[in-house]
Amino acid sequence: MTNDTHPEFRFRRLRRTGALRDMVRETRLEVSDLILPLFVEEGIDQPVEIGSMPGVVRYPEAQLADKVTSAWKKGIRAVLLFGVSRHKDAEGCDTWNPEGLMARMIRTVKAAQPEMCVISDNCFCEYTDHGHCGVVHGDDVDNDATLKNLQKQVVVAAKAGVDMIAPSGMQDGMIAAIRAALDASGYGHIPVMSYSTKFASAFYGPFRDAVDSNFKGTRASYQMDPANRREALAESLQDEDEGADILMVKPGIAYLDVLADIRAHSARPLAVYQVSGEYAMIKAGAEAGVIDERAVAMESLLAFKRAGADLIITYFAETVADWLNES
Ligand code: PBG
Repeated sequence: MTNDTHPEFRFRRLRRTGALRDMVRETRLEVSDLILPLFVEEGIDQPVEIGSMPGVVRYPEAQLADKVTSAWKKGIRAVLLFGVSRHKDAEGCDTWNPEGLMARMIRTVKAAQPEMCVISDNCFCEYTDHGHCGVVHGDDVDNDATLKNLQKQVVVAAKAGVDMIAPSGMQDGMIAAIRAALDASGYGHIPVMSYSTKFASAFYGPFRDAVDSNFKGTRASYQMDPANRREALAESLQDEDEGADILMVKPGIAYLDVLADIRAHSARPLAVYQVSGEYAMIKAGAEAGVIDERAVAMESLLAFKRAGADLIITYFAETVADWLNES
């Protein structure tokens, strides 16, 4: 509205120059926001490319130390470890073997880069022969039997030197069970980042390729229905009540409403996981020449922060670190 005493408000006044736009920018992306997921495979001696995720590989154990050192030099301060096991069984016993893959990966990273924050993805699906995230009875995961194994797993991870536990299996009561096991074993100082609101999502497709999984079933009886917004908030608030130190939404770009809801109802730090399918789509779109990879990747990550995320788990972490470091 324009008249002589109240001239029209014009938003474009603060958009006129780069300096002005910088001054009023509400959200920024920094290298310290990023968590780098790493896949480590037993029994290989060269990195294996993941077809659906160009630029992402499964590393041999012998190359993990170098990988972590190069990420550290780019300013990455946190890694999330996924094992691709060759020792699978019905319950995923390798995950609580002190000489198993999970424990070895943790020790390797801590030895290579003691100050790196080492986060273990605490689940069973990469270690079970059926591919479910726990103990299976009939065709369903037994919640409470799985919790008992999870308690053994996280104590072994803590003994190996992990800095943060990140349970991704979406079992009820998992945070309380983990907290109790850590506290009872002298690891009361180890924080838990819960995959607190994790949806049963088709965006995980390429991950199954990444971890060489032949899983054909559904996780809909334990992961969340993508249709449910109120339940999504309740899931995270439940984990906060059970003692989760950091909450998480997964996947990312299709669930910004959920991120914003949790941000509005919790004071805990909030993470988001930009999952394999999100990464693969940006890569494929850029490859097809229909989008600009860098611009779309950066815009997506910024959108997570705008919606309320403090931390972002992304396969773009190293590339984004390079981009941020050069500007
Ligand atoms: C296992 C797990 C999955 C992902 C992370 N941990 C797959 C699943 O739940 O099916 C997905 C990661 C991604 O897609 O990038 N619990």
